[in-house]
Amino acid sequence: MRPGSGATTTLLLAAALALAACDWMPGRPREQDRPRNPREITDFATLYANNCAGCHGSEGELGPAREFASPLFQAFLPDPALRNVIREGVPGTGMPAFAKAAGGSLMDPQVEALVSGMRRRWARPSRVDASVLPPYSEADAVAAGYALGDPGRGREAFQRACAGCHGADGNGGEEGGSVVAAAFLGLVSDQMLRTVVVCGRPDLGMPDWREPPPELRLSVQEVSDVVSWLASHRPPDLEPARGASE
Ligand code: HEC
Ligand code: HEC
Repeated sequence: MRPGSGATTTLLLAAALALAACDWMPGRPREQDRPRNPREITDFATLYANNCAGCHGSEGELGPAREFASPLFQAFLPDPALRNVIREGVPGTGMPAFAKAAGGSLMDPQVEALVSGMRRRWARPSRVDASVLPPYSEADAVAAGYALGDPGRGREAFQRACAGCHGADGNGGEEGGSVVAAAFLGLVSDQMLRTVVVCGRPDLGMPDWREPPPELRLSVQEVSDVVSWLASHRPPDLEPARGASE
């Protein structure tokens, strides 16, 4: 080894490292490939894929939890409720709380990015007549002058509008599974049931409330009634999960 070659190698290495850090060098990671602090991500697609897609479906449908890719659902769910559900989750169900303040991992701007991103991606206001939509929650319906849900009236409404698919007692029929099983009702909130009754699960073949012919369709009052009848099958030892409030 010639004297000085060690120092030369070191110099060359340092120069190579310095060059590699230069922006114009080929092979430099692109800005979007750089590892980022997860708290700084406010891109909807990334936030949705990382936090929601596993349960609500990568395209907002066909997941174990409800579909989002429905203009009716996007019109039915008000911003404050959407924000609140993301932040606080729904206690007693599989929907986790995401806000840092509630033990989750998302900062406020990230929650806002999810709210506005969901609307941009799936809301189509021109396709929904919001003026005839039932209120989002039972509490909203009561505030609008409707009565609390009544299980007796709900049973009758179920016979008319739902039994054809889910069976007379709700235990399942040819076209729909059981909607009164303890294992199901123990895991979902009343609000989830209400949302299903109004918005359906288009991805699973469950019709939304506008679809049936007029003589079968539920009235706004009957939406609350049917939900209270379904909920009356929830075993008393399973804590009633009321769903997110606004
Ligand atoms: C045309 C047939 C049909 C009618 C009418 C119908 N459903 Fe369904 N429903 C389905 C199908 C299909 C599914 C999805 C598969 C399953 O869970 O059985 C479903 C799913 C559901 C679910 C579970 C949703 C989920 O995300 O797990 C509930 C709750 C429900 N229906 C309630 C009702 C109520 C209440 C009515 C009456 C207002 C009703 N359904 C009317 C076909 C129907
Ligand atoms: C581990 C599964 C899981 C993940 C992950 C998840 N959810 Fe949910 N989500 C659920 C379940 C289950 C429900 C139904 C809860 C209930 O019974 O009210 C739900 C309900 C909701 C609702 C309420 C719909 C209604 O009926 O009014 C919204 C909105 C929602 N989730 C948004 C999100 C968003 C946004 C994300 C990602 C930040 C997310 N969820 C991640 C499981 C999940």
